[in-house]
This record gives sequence, C-alpha cells and structure tokens, in this order.
Amino acid sequence: MTFETSRLLARPLEVSDQGAFHRIWGDPRVIWWGAMPDAAASARKLDEILERVRNMPAGQGWFAVVEKASGVIIGDVVLAPYITASDLELGWHFAFDSWGQGYATEASRGLVRYAFERVNAHRLVADIVPGNLLSMRLAARLGMHRIGDRVRATLPHVVLALDRGEAEAAPWWPDALVSP
Ligand SMILES: CC(C)(COP(=O)(O)OP(=O)(O)OC[C@H]1O[C@@H](n2cnc3c(N)ncnc32)[C@H](O)[C@@H]1OP(=O)(O)O)[C@@H](O)C(=O)NCCC(=O)NCCS
Repeated sequence: MTFETSRLLARPLEVSDQGAFHRIWGDPRVIWWGAMPDAAASARKLDEILERVRNMPAGQGWFAVVEKASGVIIGDVVLAPYITASDLELGWHFAFDSWGQGYATEASRGLVRYAFERVNAHRLVADIVPGNLLSMRLAARLGMHRIGDRVRATLPHVVLALDRGEAEAAPWWPDALVSP
C-alpha cells in the first residue's frame, strides 16, 4: 500500500507517525471541524484510525504523505469505504505550512490513479462542505463533479464523484504516478 509521485511518497500511516499526525490534526486551521486539543488526544485519534484501517479491505486506508526531498510527513490522504458499497471515498488533510504548493493535488491525483489501477475502484467520491473552498478547488483539479448533497455530522456537504473513464481522460493521468 504505497505509491510515489514526482515529489511525494505515500505509505501506510503508522503508530510511530504520532508527532507528524499531531502537527496536522492538532491544528485548528487544518482540522477546522474539531482539531485535537493536545498530543494525547491526537494519539487516541490515530489509534482509532489505525483500528478502522485494520478492518478495511486490502489496499484501502490512510496514507502518510512524505515529501521525498526532506523525508518530512506533510499530510495524509485517505481511501476508504463509503456508504454506497460500489464507491470509495477520498480524503485529504495537509499541514498548514505545506499549502499552496500543489502537494495536495499531486498526492490526490496519485491516489486516484492508485485507486483505479491497483485497488480496482469503480468510482471515487468526496463529501465536502461547500464553504471549504480549498477542498472544492482540489476536487475540481481532480475533475470531480457534483452528484448530490448529504448531511454529515450535522453539516450540509456536497457529494462529488469521479469515475475511471473521466480520470483516465484527464491530462494529468499519465504523470500521476512515478512508477505505475
Ligand atoms: C484542502 C487542502 C488539502 C488543499 O491544500 P492546497 O495547498 O490548497 O492544495 P494544493 O496543495 O493542491 O495546492 C494548490 C495551490 O498550489 C498552487 N501551486 C503552487 N505550486 C504548484 C505546483 N507545483 N503544482 C500545482 N499547484 C501548485 C496552485 O496554483 C494552487 O493555488 P490556487 O488554489 O491559489 O490556484 C488543504 O487546504 C487542507 O488540508 N485543508 C484542511 C483539511 C480539509 O479541509 N480536508 C478536507 C475535508 S473534506
């Protein structure tokens, strides 16, 4: 469960990633809907996530996104079961100081190609709060389009989707992974 893009390496999130995880999940600018208040809470959240991942089918889960040049974890991306069994859900959370450099787009495009080619996903979806403009822009850069609406954790979300044919036709597809 790894993939590589030109600047990034994505590999399974591990319990030893707790420091980097807290840097991301403890930051209210990133986890705006409920950042972890301290390192202990982040450690519990990471444990909870890793327990969920253990129950997911092979190839799905949470990836730590490592900047190859520095070896530093700059974010995480998620490929997980969704409420509709034929879809898989995408997620992304990046350290605040990594924003604006195209890392989230690069990691997510790599994840899209990984999902369709290596996990044989049928369709990818993302639930996004419409006011989350950076996430909406990221979804648009992936070529995702709105298929509906859904209330999640009391917040209205738009549901965006991308199928394999659409992804394969995107100009970024051939370069999405370093070694497909
Ligand atoms: C959503 C999130 C991952 C997007 O991060 P981001 O930094 O805006 O996205 P990217 O890393 O793809 O960067 C894109 C920006 O970098 C710029 N950029 C700079 N260098 C670039 C490069 N080499 N390649 C591509 N884009 C580049 C782009 O122009 C773009 O800027 P623009 O939107 O002003 O045009 C981030 O805001 C985040 O972690 N948010 C909080 C978590 C969250 O809300 N998750 C989703 C819950 S549903």
